[in-house]
Amino acid sequence: MYNADIMEDDIAKVIISSGEIAERVSAMADEMVQTYGQPDEGITIVTVLAGSLVFLSDLIRRLPLRMRIALVTASSYAGKATTAGKIHLESTTLPDLRNRNVLIVDDIVETGGTLRLVQAAVRRLCPRRIRTAVLLRKTTKAPSDVPIDFVGFDIGDDFVVGYGLDYDGLYRNLPFIAVLKPEMYNAESAL
Ligand code: IMP
Ligand code: MG
Repeated sequence: MYNADIMEDDIAKVIISSGEIAERVSAMADEMVQTYGQPDEGITIVTVLAGSLVFLSDLIRRLPLRMRIALVTASSYAGKATTAGKIHLESTTLPDLRNRNVLIVDDIVETGGTLRLVQAAVRRLCPRRIRTAVLLRKTTKAPSDVPIDFVGFDIGDDFVVGYGLDYDGLYRNLPFIAVLKPEMYNAESAL
């Protein structure tokens, strides 16, 4: 049986509830339909795994648009690090994007390093237009040279988990966004 307490014991504070996320993701989908829907221009979503998994799956089911979905894998936090290291685009198998309307979807923008790489990789394939959506933006570090068109929530500097975001690979399945108890960071994982 699923025991929510197993993970919830590790949490210091929920900063965005699942209800708030659902409401905001719906509103973001409405904004996107305004942007792309009249007439339906058709989009290719390029999404950055694995953190965007949950956001993407909720978002696309609220987008009544013709779409294709492409996946790239990037990582900047290795294991138990909570500060970004060197960023790798591990898989860049992108489809033909020439003249396509591309919407890049990521979970969170912090230094912008990841999205800068993804935007550059997409730009090389000569799309018609690139827009970018993130669920979360850490405003203290967000750089001005990485344009973001759709933002879910602006948050502070804390390292957060849940709704797709992980710490050391864990907590992606929490239905809300939370900060872990300080002792959980760099603690030896019991799993
Ligand atoms: P950036 O390249 O510095 O913008 O960092 C973006 C990437 O780092 C995101 O796509 C996440 O995978 C990861 N990341 C940044 N902040 C957090 C966080 O608070 N929790 C979990 N992952 C994060
Ligand atoms: Mg990511």
